[in-house]
Amino acid sequence: MTPKLVTTPIYYVNDRAHIGHAYTSIAADTLVRWHRLRGESVCLLTGTDEHGQKIAKAAVDRAQDPQSFTDEVSQTFRDLTRTLNLGPHDFIRTTEPRHREQVIALWNRLVERGAIYLGTYSGWYAIRDEAFYSESDTHIVDGKRVAKASGAEVEWLSEPSYFFNLSKWRDRLLHHYAEHPEFIQPEGRRNEVIALVKAGLDDLSVSRISVKWGIPVPSDPKHTVYVWLDALTNYISGWPDWQRHNGSAPVTHIIGKDILKFHAVFWPAFLLAAGLPLPRQIVAHGWWTQEGRKISKSLGNTISPLALIEQYGVDPVRYYLLREVPFGEDGDFKQANLIQRADTELANELGNLAHRVLSILQRQHGGVLPDPIPFDAWEEHPLLENAELLPAKIAYVLNNRVAFNEALDEIVGVVRQANQWIVQTAPWAIKDDPVKRGEVLRALYEALRAVAICLQPFIPTSASALLDQLAVPGDARTLAALREPPPKGTILPPPQPVFRKLGVAKAA
Ligand code: MSP
Repeated sequence: MTPKLVTTPIYYVNDRAHIGHAYTSIAADTLVRWHRLRGESVCLLTGTDEHGQKIAKAAVDRAQDPQSFTDEVSQTFRDLTRTLNLGPHDFIRTTEPRHREQVIALWNRLVERGAIYLGTYSGWYAIRDEAFYSESDTHIVDGKRVAKASGAEVEWLSEPSYFFNLSKWRDRLLHHYAEHPEFIQPEGRRNEVIALVKAGLDDLSVSRISVKWGIPVPSDPKHTVYVWLDALTNYISGWPDWQRHNGSAPVTHIIGKDILKFHAVFWPAFLLAAGLPLPRQIVAHGWWTQEGRKISKSLGNTISPLALIEQYGVDPVRYYLLREVPFGEDGDFKQANLIQRADTELANELGNLAHRVLSILQRQHGGVLPDPIPFDAWEEHPLLENAELLPAKIAYVLNNRVAFNEALDEIVGVVRQANQWIVQTAPWAIKDDPVKRGEVLRALYEALRAVAICLQPFIPTSASALLDQLAVPGDARTLAALREPPPKGTILPPPQPVFRKLGVAKAA
């Protein structure tokens, strides 16, 4: 089934965006663009998570009131969507009235269905994670008690609180995981969640009386709705269509592995209890370190995605992040590797190939496309056989497993094959047989067209510049249009390089 909505997590506004945030957004955007390329209608939802103790504390630290503080930082995340070149999307803030309404509606629904009761929470709380921890989930490090899972410092809390009856949903959740193996991806993360839920679930505290910056509990406003119940509801408030689906809603949540429990356990349990449809899929990616070190404010080593993009351009950054690590695994962000990847695979292997083919077409064929090779004949063609299969191969790795790096492997594979083919066939040296030369060049042109069409979700700007170079009209850039080679006589523009080299040219 098709995802009709793809979401990023909503970002905490206590800090400026770093490369980890950029990664989640780029991954979600690429998935959305892939589905659009297939002709499906898909929405992208992103936004900011603005309530709770962590944000209130950050505002106090900057001597600002929380509303103007969140307005300011939220705007930087909104600006980032443009810098990252996200396609059409909606941006939800948890401080918006449309969001507040949905949180209140969900809360009331949970109360009506008997899923919420009043009690007292006594236990540990980590402000950094906005999460509750039992004693056994914590330990002492350097004289401080911290959560084992995240290393975040915890504080003791004992206060009246509303609880959500999470423990009741254990078996229903396990049943859902078993019935829908694609629900949590990748596989390893799915197994972690299953083990955690099997071990048993405690009821969850879902309100705080010591927190004021948030949405008051409708019937008891001394309490503030727990920030994660508030934040997760963005997936409903930002996409009202959710409510219209019965059963499993066509929603894919792209998240980092650190927030898997909230998305794969708490969120589906809230939805089950409220009688609302569950998302189709939750996909958790790994974590980036930066030049071998944890990305953290205290280390002062956070590279701003804005600075990187200003230096290298958005597409090399998108390409590197999606290409470098198998989706789901951790990665180490190294600028030297970004340069290396972009220069080798984009500028040399693809860029030079395109420039070579287009220059020969210009010089030896007057910039006019030779006879087309009908799409039906591609499967018999030594070069085009793999180009023809590209969409199906990408669909296979992206649709369920969301394996961006494998999709790019397939594309790079076709580029490499075309490079071998051009060396073997040496079209520049075919002087006296223009028909044969035309056939060879047309095959190379088609391989480039297939590659450029399929690269659009990953590196939209460069792929579209390449399609311009190939004289592919705007309405012929979908997967379906791949089947219809441009006619003989199509006039190609004078060739221009599409990718610039990022690194300093090395001596031969
Ligand atoms: N506000 C919550 C999410 C609520 S969703 C209902 C949150 N925000 S966050 O700003 O801390 O993180 C947002 C996303 O960025 C998460 O998916 C997180 O995994 C991702 N990353 C933050 N640091 C990261 C790295 N160092 N590497 C990769 N992704 C990282 O959690």
